[in-house]
Amino acid sequence: MKNTVSTLMKQKQSGEKITMLTAYDYTTAKIMDECGVNSILIGDSLGMVMLGYENTLPVTMDDMVHHTAAVSRGAVNAFVVADMPFLSYQTGVQDAVRNAGRLVKEGGANAVKLEGGAEVCEQIRAIVSASMPVVAHLGLTPQSVNVFGGFKVQGKSCENARRLIDDALRIQEAGACAVVLEGIPARLAEIITSKLTIPTIGIGAGNGCDGQVLVYQDMLGLTTGHTPKFVKRFAEAGELMRKGITDYINEVQSGEFPAQEHTYSIDDEVIEQLMKEEA
Ligand code: KIV
Repeated sequence: MKNTVSTLMKQKQSGEKITMLTAYDYTTAKIMDECGVNSILIGDSLGMVMLGYENTLPVTMDDMVHHTAAVSRGAVNAFVVADMPFLSYQTGVQDAVRNAGRLVKEGGANAVKLEGGAEVCEQIRAIVSASMPVVAHLGLTPQSVNVFGGFKVQGKSCENARRLIDDALRIQEAGACAVVLEGIPARLAEIITSKLTIPTIGIGAGNGCDGQVLVYQDMLGLTTGHTPKFVKRFAEAGELMRKGITDYINEVQSGEFPAQEHTYSIDDEVIEQLMKEEA
């Protein structure tokens, strides 16, 4: 059964946790969909994990449409949410609606996600009025990395926490169907979750949210270097890939691969005939 906005809303009401993972391609989306994840997010984190940028800022609308379409083809049941990249909605309501429309129309997304609170409520209202669900994103919003001066936990001071609660209420009032809470203290996320009627989906926001999201390269152990505190590595797929690739290199070099079972045969008479013709 296809997950929709109402599926997520019902899960909040019944207390059944919402599961969301990022994906950026058809094969990964298909595996996640077959495992039964509720929602797949084509995050603009693709800038870092797929395209090798330092942050999400260089990601373009064309990048997002391309990867969203690939994920949509693999996601039969999951609710597909596509990120609106930097400067695709901050520049005004018309840009926001047009670009959200591309993600839905060309990419096949079921909803779009954008970062910010009070300052993007007009955009949320306009996109929802154009019949496209919007997931909001509050807290450590990566597109504001230069304002925050790095990827830092948000909402730790009373003033900052109050602003986040106010932003959450405002984006709900503007029509958002859910909100991602990233990099905020667990107790603040619990307060926000209890005040909202729409689901909260946490990443680095503790266990009190209505659901959780992780970047799949992080949770499957594909990323190297520093692992943020909030990431749990559920598998070491990177190790598995390294072993497979090293074995391949060794077997090709030694001549062990391809073996008989990987090889197509031809009738001896055909070869004999060929050899005669060649002679
Ligand atoms: O871009 C992304 O992957 C995200 C998640 C971290 C929520 O926005």
